[in-house]
Amino acid sequence: MKVLVTGATGYIGRHLCPLLPDVRALARDAARAKRLLPAFAEIALGDMTDEASLKAAAKGCGAVVHLAARKSDEPDIAEVNVEGAKRLVAACREAGIKRVINVGSQAARMARRGPYGETKRLSDEILMGAGLEATTLLPSVVYGPDDPGVFGKLARVAAKSPVVPVIGDGRAKYRPVHVEDVCRAIAGCLSAPSTIGKTYSVGGPETVTLEGLIDLVAARAGKRPLKVHLPGPVAMLIASVGASLLDSPPLSRSNVLGAIQSVPEADWNAVFAELGLTARTIAAGLEGGI
Ligand SMILES: NC(=O)c1ccc[n+]([C@@H]2O[C@H](COP(=O)([O-])OP(=O)(O)OC[C@H]3O[C@@H](n4cnc5c(N)ncnc54)[C@H](OP(=O)(O)O)[C@@H]3O)[C@@H](O)[C@H]2O)c1
Repeated sequence: MKVLVTGATGYIGRHLCPLLPDVRALARDAARAKRLLPAFAEIALGDMTDEASLKAAAKGCGAVVHLAARKSDEPDIAEVNVEGAKRLVAACREAGIKRVINVGSQAARMARRGPYGETKRLSDEILMGAGLEATTLLPSVVYGPDDPGVFGKLARVAAKSPVVPVIGDGRAKYRPVHVEDVCRAIAGCLSAPSTIGKTYSVGGPETVTLEGLIDLVAARAGKRPLKVHLPGPVAMLIASVGASLLDSPPLSRSNVLGAIQSVPEADWNAVFAELGLTARTIAAGLEGGI
C-alpha cells in the first residue's frame, strides 16, 4: 500500500519516511525533499493551500499520514492547518483513501490555546469527523537527534552555555517522547485496524518539568547552568511585539503558552501498549544525541 505523507520534509516526517517501504512524500521543494528523504521515497510536489496538488498527490495511495502544519503562529496558520485539513479530506475522498493517521498535538488539549493549539484542535476535529478511518496521535514534546524544536534548542544551550533562559517558573510538566518512538507508533497504526476512530495521547514513560529536562541534558554534558527565568507575562509581551514587528519572530505566543502550562493528564502509553511497543526512557533517548 502506497502511503502519502504530508509534512514529509519536517522533523518527524524525515524519521518516518525510512520506515515506510512504499511512501509518497508531499513536498514544497523537490530538491530539498530529495536531500532529506531516502532515495526510494517518491516525491509529489504540493502544498496544503493548493487542493489540486493534494488531489494529484493522493491519487493511487491507500493511506495518508498527515504531519504538515504551521507551528509558530504564522499569518497563514489557519489556512494551512484548518483549511488544509479540509482540502486533505477532499483529496482523500476523490482518491478513495479511507485510512488516515493524523498527527495532532497536546497543544490542542491545553486550557489556554494560542493559534497553534486552536488550529490543531480544529484540524483534528475535521479529520476525525470526516467519515474516514482516522486515528489521531497527540504527542507531547518530541525530541531526538538534531531536534530543531524548542526542547532541542534549549538542550543545546544547556549543554554549552553557563546561562539558560527559562520561560515561566520552569515547573510546567511534559511527557517527552523520542521521535523514533513516535514514528514507530505512526507506522504501527497504519497496520492496526484496532486503532481506527481513536485519539491517543503519546508520551514517553516519564513526566518531567522544563527545568528537569534542562538539568538532565546539562548534567550529561557535565554542566550546571544558571537558569534565568523570564516571567510568563513578559515572555508573552515579547512574543506579541515580535509578531507585530518581525516576519519570523524567535518566540511565538503559542511557544509561551506551551512553556507555562503542563500537559493535561492522559494515558500516555495506550498506543504503544495497543501496538506491542515500548517507548524509551529519556536517558535512553538522549543516548542518540539531541
Ligand atoms: N515536533 C514536536 O515536538 C511535535 C509535538 C507534537 C506534535 N507535533 C506535530 O507533528 C507534526 C509534524 O511536526 P514536525 O515537528 O515534524 O514539524 P516541522 O519540522 O515544523 O515540519 C512541518 C512540515 O510541514 C510542512 N508544511 C508547512 N506548511 C506547509 C504547506 N503550506 N504545505 C505543505 N506542507 C507544509 C513543512 O514543509 P517544508 O519542509 O516545506 O517547510 C514540513 O514538512 C505537526 O503536525 C506538529 O503539530 C510535533
